[in-house]
Amino acid sequence: MGDIIEFHNVVKEYPYYESIVRGFKSFILSNPFKSVNVLRKSKFRAIDGISFSIGRGEAIGIIGRNGAGKSTILALISGIIKPTSGRVVVRGKISPLLELGAGFHLELTGRENILLNGILLGLKRREVEKKMDDIIAFSELQEFIDQPMRTYSSGMVARLGFSVVAHLEPEILVIDEILAVGDMEFQKKCVEKITGFKKKGVTIVFVSHAMNDIRRICDRVIWIEQHKIRMDGRCEEVVKTYERYMEQA
Ligand SMILES: Nc1ncnc2c1ncn2[C@@H]1O[C@H](COP(=O)(O)OP(=O)(O)OP(=O)(O)O)[C@@H](O)[C@H]1O
Ligand SMILES: [Mg+2]
Repeated sequence: MGDIIEFHNVVKEYPYYESIVRGFKSFILSNPFKSVNVLRKSKFRAIDGISFSIGRGEAIGIIGRNGAGKSTILALISGIIKPTSGRVVVRGKISPLLELGAGFHLELTGRENILLNGILLGLKRREVEKKMDDIIAFSELQEFIDQPMRTYSSGMVARLGFSVVAHLEPEILVIDEILAVGDMEFQKKCVEKITGFKKKGVTIVFVSHAMNDIRRICDRVIWIEQHKIRMDGRCEEVVKTYERYMEQA
C-alpha cells in the first residue's frame, strides 16, 4: 500500500486570461499594454511539475508567497480540480477544503448550513442532528446560529467552518489559511483541536502564512516558490530558510 497522498509530476494550467482576471489589479499595474487577445491564447502554470508523497498520520505544512500555488495544491488534493497532466492519488476520506466561506450558502442560517454541509459530506440527517449541539457549542455562535449567514463576520464564518469539519472525523484534514481570521482565543482552540486530530493519527495538510502556527502543527514543511517545490524537509529547517529568504527579498 502506498502513501495516503501522492503527487506525480503534477501540472495545473489555467488559460492566462483567467489568471489575469483573478489577479486583475496586478495585471493592470504591470502589463497595461499587452494585447489581451495574445494573452488569451497562452497558458499559465499555477503548478509546474510537482512531486511529493505524504505518509499516513503526517502533519505537513505548505508555505510560500502569495500566488505560489499553495491553494491550487489543496484543491487538487481535495479533488475540486483535476491536474492538466501528472497524477494525484489520494487514499483516504478527506475533509472538505477548509477555506473561508467555501460550501456555505449565505441566505441560509448557520444551523441550516451545518445540516447541509454534513449531508453533502455523506452523513445521514440524523447523524448531523446528533452532532449539531456539539458543533454549535464549539463555534460559540449560539446567539447567531438561526440568523442568515450573510450577517456573519468573516471570523464567524471561519468559526462555523472549522467547527463543522472538526466534528466529521476525517482521515485527511485539509486547511487553507483559515485560522488567521479567528480571534486569538478561537485560534488557540483550533490549534488544540488540530493537535488532537494529529494525536489520533489524522493526516493534516495545513497552508498558512503564520509561521508560528506552522511550527506548532507541522512536522514537515513543503515550500512552494514560483509554482515549484523549493524545499521539502523538517519543519524548523524549512521555516527558518524561508524566513531568512523572505527577509532578504
Ligand atoms: N481558477 C483559476 N483560474 C486562473 N488562475 C488561477 C485560478 N486559481 C489560481 N490561479 C492562479 O494560479 C496561481 C496560484 O494560485 P494559488 O491560489 O494556488 O496561490 P496561493 O499560493 O494559494 O496564494 P495565496 O498565498 O495568495 O493564497 C496564481 O497566480 C493564481 O492567479
Ligand atoms: Mg491560497
